[in-house]
Amino acid sequence: MTDSGYFIAFEGGDGAGKSTQVRRVAEALEAAGREVVVTRQPGGTTLGAALRDLVLHGGALTPRAEALVFAADKAQHVEEVILPSLARGAVVVTDRYVDSSVAYQGAGRALGAQEVADLQAWAVGGLMPHLTVVVDVDPATGRQRRGGTDDRMESEADAFHVAVREHFLAMAKGEPHRYLVVDGTASPDEIAERVHARLVDEGVL
Ligand code: TYD
Repeated sequence: MTDSGYFIAFEGGDGAGKSTQVRRVAEALEAAGREVVVTRQPGGTTLGAALRDLVLHGGALTPRAEALVFAADKAQHVEEVILPSLARGAVVVTDRYVDSSVAYQGAGRALGAQEVADLQAWAVGGLMPHLTVVVDVDPATGRQRRGGTDDRMESEADAFHVAVREHFLAMAKGEPHRYLVVDGTASPDEIAERVHARLVDEGVL
């Protein structure tokens, strides 16, 4: 895996602790001599930052409009950041990707997982991660960890977040070779070790 790019996505509910793990894996990969590009969705491009503000902190959006904004963010992100990085052999680590939309808009907003998956696949031109790490926590723990400041998605009722969590787990169960599920209540060191071990198995580390 030294002469071609590798694409890793971290997924999970709000407050799962993904961002810490994104940082940890990036450090481990860099220490192993890989070029690493860390990014996040929504965001990660100039357009993405504007869309992020709109969708997380703006006014009302209908569920379909919301799904399209998240899809537009990803379309821009793939062409501007992810594809060029993979093409020069970097490891791209993204904090959220298409599965977030399938879980949040498809299952949480009940737009239909398959329809949202199709929309997302179109937006990203079919580019899927080599490995998706789902950092799993129950919504109550996630809420507690986040504290009091909720954005548009975070302020949804617990039932929404339960549906999101169940959908992440169902996707991972269906394709174990493309996913790693880690318990988000384990220590950051333990979680980082599990991710590290999987990347060794995959030949990336
Ligand atoms: P962010 O602040 O990045 O949250 P976190 O630190 O938990 O990743 O907020 C992103 C929010 O947007 C999060 O609630 C998940 C949601 N989201 C979607 O609903 N659909 C998507 O396609 C993406 C990428 C994120």
